[in-house]
Amino acid sequence: MFEGFVNVWTPVTRAKRLGRKPLAVELAGERLVFFRGSGGRAAALVDRCPHRGVKLSLGTVAPDGCLECPFHAWRFDGDGRVREVPLNPDARLAAFSAQRVPVRELGGLLWAFTRVGDDPAESPAVPEALVDERLARTYVEVDWDAHWSRAMENMLDSPHVPFVHRRTIGRAVRPLLGPRSQMTVRWEETDRGFRATSSVDGRPEAEGGTLEFVRPNLMALDIPIPGKVFRIHAACVPIGERRTRMILIGARSFARSPLLNPLFNWVNRRIAEEDRPVVESSDPSEVPPPGAEASVATDRVTLHFRKYYLERMRGSTSGPTNGAPRGAALRVLA
Ligand code: FES
Ligand SMILES: [Fe+2]
Repeated sequence: MFEGFVNVWTPVTRAKRLGRKPLAVELAGERLVFFRGSGGRAAALVDRCPHRGVKLSLGTVAPDGCLECPFHAWRFDGDGRVREVPLNPDARLAAFSAQRVPVRELGGLLWAFTRVGDDPAESPAVPEALVDERLARTYVEVDWDAHWSRAMENMLDSPHVPFVHRRTIGRAVRPLLGPRSQMTVRWEETDRGFRATSSVDGRPEAEGGTLEFVRPNLMALDIPIPGKVFRIHAACVPIGERRTRMILIGARSFARSPLLNPLFNWVNRRIAEEDRPVVESSDPSEVPPPGAEASVATDRVTLHFRKYYLERMRGSTSGPTNGAPRGAALRVLA
């Protein structure tokens, strides 16, 4: 269950998508159903009725917040407990339950913890700009036919910007590039991932802003505008082996009118659309082990992600080694 993506909090989708109807969502190969349980609180269960295995997402949510299976109308609360088994007044309700997945609703997103069971001790690492009341936010979701590890590396990769995005965000840097131009990348670890900046030939106008990786699958880019906040976030949510949901969230302290949101969304969609065909073409689809691809100095940041991915995430299973580093065999960086 959730193979390769176990025991982590991840954004799943925009919270706005979850209304009164159950919402079927695929996450790391597992089918989940989200619904609003009692008091409107978001909840998620594995989308499989414990009675005969049908999709609970085909059912309905009762006014008391119980999810009713479409087949024999067993009713489940937000913790997966069976509250009623119609036509069987003597059924031992406590003996049956659906599989519950921990959920949070934060920063306009639904988050899930990728294992079945009680809430974990830790909370999701939510970038500040997603919960800052002073900022206007925009949300875009697009699905890519790519493994999430490639999508994530793309989001952390500065050297592609002048080439893939030559008509958009790379437009200003492109004319500054000469045959001997050099990109310098600075990198530092943080308690939730790492932070990186890059510049070309030391020119301030070619500074790319500060890029932050927030484990396991979030990028936050701070675009420097004096006196203002402008951040772009990307969550790379694994759906299946070759399918990733990209959630792009813009947060800004200026031009905050909601009337402008479609414009900001249009720009984010366009940038993502420039990345998509390149990332989808990656072979192999998942980032490979060390040495399988040629790397240079400007790959430093993505190699740090690759190290984390290979040691912590790849091959993680819901078995007894849950969450433990996968050993020293997969060292990418010296
Ligand atoms: S299959 Fe769900 S109640 Fe029977
Ligand atoms: Fe890009």
